[in-house]
Amino acid sequence: MKNFYIVTINSLISGDKQKVKKQTKLINAGRNPEANFGIVNPPVYHASTVLFPSVAALDKATANPYEGVYYGLNGTPTTFALQEALAELEGYTQAIAVPSGLAAIVGALLAFLDHGDHLLMVDSVYGPTRRFCDGMLKSFGVETTYYDPTIGAAINKLMRSKTKVIFTESPGSLTFEVQDVPAIVKEAHAGGAKVILDNTWGGGVFFSASKSGVDISVQAATKYISGHSDVMLGTIAMNDVDNIKIRSSIRDLGYGAAPDDCYLALRGLRTINARLPVHERSALKLANWLSKRTEVERVLHPALSSCSGHEIWKRDFTGSSGLFSFVLKSEFNKTQVSAMIDHMQLFKIGYSWGGFESLIVPYDAHPPRSAQPWKLGQLIRIHAGLEAVEDMINDLEAGFIRLNA
Ligand SMILES: Cc1ncc(COP(=O)(O)O)c(C=O)c1O
Repeated sequence: MKNFYIVTINSLISGDKQKVKKQTKLINAGRNPEANFGIVNPPVYHASTVLFPSVAALDKATANPYEGVYYGLNGTPTTFALQEALAELEGYTQAIAVPSGLAAIVGALLAFLDHGDHLLMVDSVYGPTRRFCDGMLKSFGVETTYYDPTIGAAINKLMRSKTKVIFTESPGSLTFEVQDVPAIVKEAHAGGAKVILDNTWGGGVFFSASKSGVDISVQAATKYISGHSDVMLGTIAMNDVDNIKIRSSIRDLGYGAAPDDCYLALRGLRTINARLPVHERSALKLANWLSKRTEVERVLHPALSSCSGHEIWKRDFTGSSGLFSFVLKSEFNKTQVSAMIDHMQLFKIGYSWGGFESLIVPYDAHPPRSAQPWKLGQLIRIHAGLEAVEDMINDLEAGFIRLNA
């Protein structure tokens, strides 16, 4: 017996796809309750071996390893359901799920870089991406040049005939410079290079990589897509033109996203448009409150004019997420900073971000920077979770009392 509601949403989606808003598409993409006893969410399929009815069927699947169910490593229907929704989120025709955000970055870079090639990498990049460039990529004979995140169209001065990729991360997840991605895309394409963007901060909601001409958008789905601090997953979104190259790179690396994690990420994705505005509102309140504190030198939040690239953020983004930093005045020493952070009640100390809970981490942004020295002092990075913002402010207020003690 057909369920009336399911028939209604499916015809809404298929009948008038262009008119349906992205938010609505995200609720329905990758779902097929009619094929699944009317159950709302797709089931979790675990697989290594996939059986074929004949040698001819085996040969056909072997010749087309990126289409359909072939071997567990290449994904199960659970993976494909998530990938369909991810492509919708990012506005590309294709998406791949991989076991971590870093795996997505490595897999996308290796798809386009060969021995002797040159990579332009933003200086504000996520630390482990930098480590991969300075370690493995270097030993494989790929040269990396770090560029100032505010460079914009002047990136063309750093491009060489062997520059195959320009990697962007906007904003940087520690120092929050917003990059002029459309200007970089224009120069990159004029010089024959691909642009990869780490789009994790905006979650695919606040910045459209595809509309800005970015070739490949990667995200740590560990953050806002899954949203509950219990999943390790990365995503790569791209158009058909780059699809096989990237899928082949992922295959050679042996990356396969776990079906349970794909299920959880897909479940998280359904509520991303409900969660992000709450993170946004709270982070903005905290950022404005912090900018009035006498202990604070500067707040690095893209929606505040004190942040580098704020004007570009206004032009290119539709909102801001829950992650930002502030810089303490130089008079505070490490013991005072630890006293502030060690005894927070809501802001817990821990890496990663994008979950429902608030986090706080002290950082020193000096050592890794090589294109432009980092001139500001002690950074404290905050992730505003989904707690009441008044409670978060009370927690920070008590922290400042300990800092000053
Ligand atoms: C901006 C950014 N990109 C990528 C990653 C890597 O994600 P994962 O931890 O899933 O490897 C992180 C993780 O903190 C991140 O903050």
